[in-house]
Amino acid sequence: MVSSAAPRAARERRARPVGAPIVVGMLGAGVVGEGVLRLLRDNAATIEARLGGAIRVKRIIARREDKVRSDAVPAGLVSFDPSELLSDPEIEVVVEVVGGLEPAGTLVRRAIEAGKSVVTANKALLAAHGHELIELAEARGVDLYFEASVGGGIPIIRVLREALASDRILAVRGIVNGTSNYILTRMRDERVGFDAALRGAQAAGYAEADPTLDVSGGDAAHKLTILATLAWGAKIDPNQVDTEGITAVDGVDVEHAERFGYVIKPLAVAREHEGGALELRVHPALVDRRSVLASVSGALNAIHVEGAALGPCLLSGAGAGALPTAVSVVSDIVDVGRNLLADARGRVPTRAFRGENLVERPVRDPGEQRCRWFLRFSGHDRPGVLARVAGILGAFDVPIAELVQQERSAAGGAVGIVVLTHEARARDVRDALREVDGLASIAAATRALRIEEG
Ligand code: HSE
Repeated sequence: MVSSAAPRAARERRARPVGAPIVVGMLGAGVVGEGVLRLLRDNAATIEARLGGAIRVKRIIARREDKVRSDAVPAGLVSFDPSELLSDPEIEVVVEVVGGLEPAGTLVRRAIEAGKSVVTANKALLAAHGHELIELAEARGVDLYFEASVGGGIPIIRVLREALASDRILAVRGIVNGTSNYILTRMRDERVGFDAALRGAQAAGYAEADPTLDVSGGDAAHKLTILATLAWGAKIDPNQVDTEGITAVDGVDVEHAERFGYVIKPLAVAREHEGGALELRVHPALVDRRSVLASVSGALNAIHVEGAALGPCLLSGAGAGALPTAVSVVSDIVDVGRNLLADARGRVPTRAFRGENLVERPVRDPGEQRCRWFLRFSGHDRPGVLARVAGILGAFDVPIAELVQQERSAAGGAVGIVVLTHEARARDVRDALREVDGLASIAAATRALRIEEG
């Protein structure tokens, strides 16, 4: 049912003067904000032709910590008080590129309440409060667009909202955190350590202000929440995503994976099971080096959507960085601008994201997942370690497929034992490793990584 508030909000709108530009205000002048301004300036003629009107940025609200130095940011438009933007009746579209829950959440709500359409790149905000914001926007008769929130420059939100509106989605999975992918890629290709690779991602502008969100899997869990909400109209809390970051992945794991013909990738997986339960997980995993995902390197992202009628569909491209993210933000401004010019705000409803339409779905117990595993044990160099480890794995129904024991070093110390298993249940693997790691002959916690097929 369509909310009765929308037509009322529409009646309250002032008429747009014919031929007037779309007037934009921007909250945030950091890396992405600068990219947005650069793109609007450099592609102004093309954008105007495609939109059928001009876009004018009237006000930019910077944070004190923003380093506003770029030639793309006109100094005369910059101020520090959001009220100047929110209370300006001429500003029709607010672009939020501040990030984080607050103050961004309050500013977006105030913008919508003031009757302005909003374009945001804020995945944390959408994952936590997307449904309320969509409801508010629909009630106020304005648009809320968020293409840049997932996959940077990859148009995955449009694909789910529009291109695949006709199909039933079976699964959405892929690489959605550019920073983690960049780190793992450099660890493999250049044998760079984790910290140095992370610094590279920060210098390139891929990482979040607090990179913990990237490497802990939190950022990918936010993005997976948004994708799964759109795909299934499910009421999902990001805390329901079984989340494991890449911080524990060691250079040794990367090398062993390679020897077995695999590459370690940061994956996000959402799948609908029979009966409606959703499987939601974010974790590093070994993928076959000949697979498509293995070739998605650096800060690139890739999202694989499986539709019941369509079958598989893969989208890949730059998932982070100023200009790729700006492409999505500016294209959203163009779409919102088209709706304004046609007096058709709310043209593409995000019903699947509205609180009243969201359906509670059971989330599958992560312990039930069955897959093959890569296990790396660190044993003291004593006779019988291997036999004990193999005995425990067998007792917990974790079948060994391949096993490699490292040469003992002249200096002594721990000896690595790497096991690839056949399919085993996550709960059984966890229980077996608890027992293995309690052995006196085991020197350090065992590393366990899933092997993702397909
Ligand atoms: N920090 C994010 C990433 C930026 O590395 O993917 C894009 O959302």
